Amino acid sequence: MKLSKLAILFLGVFLFSKGDAMEIVEKEKVEVLSLDIVSYEDFISEEPLAIEIIRKALHEKGVVGIRGIPEYKEKVFEFIQRAREFSALPEEVKKAYVPDRDVTSLGYEQGREKFKRPDGTWVIDDLKVSYYSLVPDCKENVWPKEVNLRTPFEELGALMSDVGTMVMKKIGLIGEATGISIDGAPRCGRMLYYRKSTDSSVDNPLWCGAHFDHGMFTALIPAFYFENNEPIPEPYEAGLFVRAANDAVFKKVASDDPEVLMFQVGEFGQLVTNDAIRATEHRVQKAGGCVERYSMALFFNVPDTTVIRSDSILTSDSRYGGKGGSCSFKRWHDESYKRYLAKDEK
Ligand SMILES: [Fe+2]
Repeated sequence: MKLSKLAILFLGVFLFSKGDAMEIVEKEKVEVLSLDIVSYEDFISEEPLAIEIIRKALHEKGVVGIRGIPEYKEKVFEFIQRAREFSALPEEVKKAYVPDRDVTSLGYEQGREKFKRPDGTWVIDDLKVSYYSLVPDCKENVWPKEVNLRTPFEELGALMSDVGTMVMKKIGLIGEATGISIDGAPRCGRMLYYRKSTDSSVDNPLWCGAHFDHGMFTALIPAFYFENNEPIPEPYEAGLFVRAANDAVFKKVASDDPEVLMFQVGEFGQLVTNDAIRATEHRVQKAGGCVERYSMALFFNVPDTTVIRSDSILTSDSRYGGKGGSCSFKRWHDESYKRYLAKDEK
């Protein structure tokens, strides 16, 4: 294991060809936040330095990685393969799995989230495609018949859930330190597919706008990129970008190692610790050219009936319902959905 260092990568004007067309990706500066990574072996044997690195990284950077979880890499590859097969199905087939939002939020979703820009305007992430299912599997889940997405989704999700729960305990997010339990609340898994953008003059350079996850904690697999159906390394202008608590800018997290499982903190985690740990602000930047991106996130929530009384600065957010008062997870969850979900055009 090694402590990471901050590296700065300067990108000049970047030219590349796409058929006869030449595209110019704007001159920009990408700062890199290298990921603190501990080995699973050190983590599981509770090596004090490993636990301290995880704790410190989540408090200071908002992101950390664990490498070498048994069977993890194989499950990740299997999941990505099935996710690609599902994504390649005709749109009319996939639309059969779009949820009726009045009944459930599980299943296939395309371009439904909106995010606020620094200038106050809202933009919809129209290239982001998701498939939501609960982990462990349950009767509420809806699975495609054409592709076996279910098995790799549930198997990978279970592994992410096991390790994530252990991390949450070790850093005092759940258990005695906060009195909070996640028992009885299923994890919510999300397959993420970012479609290629062929428009170089788009005014939204993001696949996913800047935001905080609203739950307790998030586990995240590395991203996989494809161009013309061939795997490619993570383009340096693209990927997960995080703004650490004391940083003014978003920094790129090198997140393309298939052996690494990453973790981020959610807003409810910040609320239950009274700001002792901060939610991780993050976004996903687009790749230039016809590049596609796949990943998976697993969200850790608490039971809807959990009620907290927090001193966090987040209590001034209208989703909380009034400073000095209490808030149930159900309220926080429902109000978050209302804020970030673009309205149906039905
Ligand atoms: Fe997120």
